[in-house]
Amino acid sequence: MIVIFFDGRPKETREELYGRENELRLLHSSLSEPIVLLTGIRRIGKTSILKVFLNEMDIQHALIDVRFPITSFRTLYSALSEALSQLNKKGSLSSALGHIKGISFFGLSVSLSWKPEERASLLEIMDRVCETGRVVIAFDEAQNMRGKLGHEVLSLLAHCYDYCKNTTFILTGSEAGLLYDFLKIEDPSSPLYGRHIEEVRVSRFDEQNSLTFLKEGFRQAGIDAPKEVLECAVNTLDGIAGWLTEFGHRSVRIGKATNTVVEEVLQVAANSAISELSHFSSEYITMIRALSNGYERWGELKEYLERKNKRVVYDAELRRYLVSLEKRGYVTRTDRGRYTLIDPVIKNAFTQSGPA
Ligand SMILES: Nc1ncnc2c1ncn2[C@@H]1O[C@H](COP(=O)(O)OP(=O)(O)O)[C@@H](O)[C@H]1O
Ligand SMILES: [Mg+2]
Repeated sequence: MIVIFFDGRPKETREELYGRENELRLLHSSLSEPIVLLTGIRRIGKTSILKVFLNEMDIQHALIDVRFPITSFRTLYSALSEALSQLNKKGSLSSALGHIKGISFFGLSVSLSWKPEERASLLEIMDRVCETGRVVIAFDEAQNMRGKLGHEVLSLLAHCYDYCKNTTFILTGSEAGLLYDFLKIEDPSSPLYGRHIEEVRVSRFDEQNSLTFLKEGFRQAGIDAPKEVLECAVNTLDGIAGWLTEFGHRSVRIGKATNTVVEEVLQVAANSAISELSHFSSEYITMIRALSNGYERWGELKEYLERKNKRVVYDAELRRYLVSLEKRGYVTRTDRGRYTLIDPVIKNAFTQSGPA
C-alpha cells in the first residue's frame, strides 16, 4: 500500500502534490519580485506548495518556520542563523561572511551571535549574501514575526527590497490581515511604505477536484471508498486539502472510508479551532459559534453575545472581536453587511456541536 496524498506532513515533491500548477506557476513568475506573499486559510496547502516550489528551484534557498513568535534578539538571530546555514549548503557563504564580527562557521552551519556587544548588522549580512548570487528566503507563517522585533525584520526586508536585487523573500500567512498589519505598506512611518508586494492566494479545491483528490488518494492506498462517503466528505470538509487529507489518513488507518470518519474529522476541526482561538479569548469561540449558527448581522451577534454572557456588550468590544477574527483569517464581511466564517469546515463543526 502506498500512501502519497494522504500523508499528513506537508508535501515536498510535485508527485505528492495534487494540482496547484497555477500557484506554482505564479510563484515562478513572481521570482523577479523582492517580496511575495503566499496566503490562504489554515490547512489549505501553503507550506506544501512552498516546499515543492523551493525544492524544484535551482536557486539557493532557505525556509524558516516561524511557528513561534519572534520575541527577542536571541530568537530572531537564531532563526536567521538557521536561514544562513541553509543557504550555505554548498559552503559558498564562508568567504563572503567569514570576516564579519559576530558570525561563526562550524562546518556548513552558520551561527550569529545575538549578544548586544557583538551582534552583526543584518543589513550588512544581507548585502554580502546577495553578492554571492541569487537567493530565495521563505518565512512560513510570517505574521508571527510582528511584535517587539518586527521592526528589525521590516528594515531588513525594506533594505533588501531596495539594494539586494538578487534576493526574493516569500512570506506565507494563514492570518493574512495580521501579515499585512506586520508589513504596514500603507503606513508612512513603515520602512516598507508604498512598496509593491506580490500576493499569491491559495484557494480551496473546487468540488470536482476535491472528489478527484480523494478518489486518487484512496486508489493509491488500495481502498475502495463508497461514492456516497466521498460525496459526504466533500460536502462536509469542502475543498480544504488538509481536512480531506486528514479524512483520507484516518480512513486508511482503519482500512475503510465511512461517514463516521467524516464526523471525526469535523470534531478535530472544531477542537483545533477552539485550541487556536482560546489562546486569545473565549469570546472568539462564542463568536464562531454564533456565526456558525446563522447569527450574522451586527445586531444579531451583539444580542447573542449578551445573552450568552448575561451582560451588556458595547459596540467597541464587538468590533474588536470581529476585526481580530477577520485579521486572523476566520471571518469575512460580505457586501450585505453580514459577517461569515471563511472556513466551511469550522462552520459545519460548530453548527453541529450542540444547541446555540
Ligand atoms: N495539493 C495538495 N496535495 C496533497 N496534499 C496536500 C495538498 N495541499 C495540502 N495537502 C496536505 O494537507 C495538509 C495541510 O497542508 P499544509 O501545506 O500544511 O497547509 P497550510 O500550510 O496551508 O496550513 C498536509 O497534510 C498536506 O500534506
Ligand atoms: Mg503551513
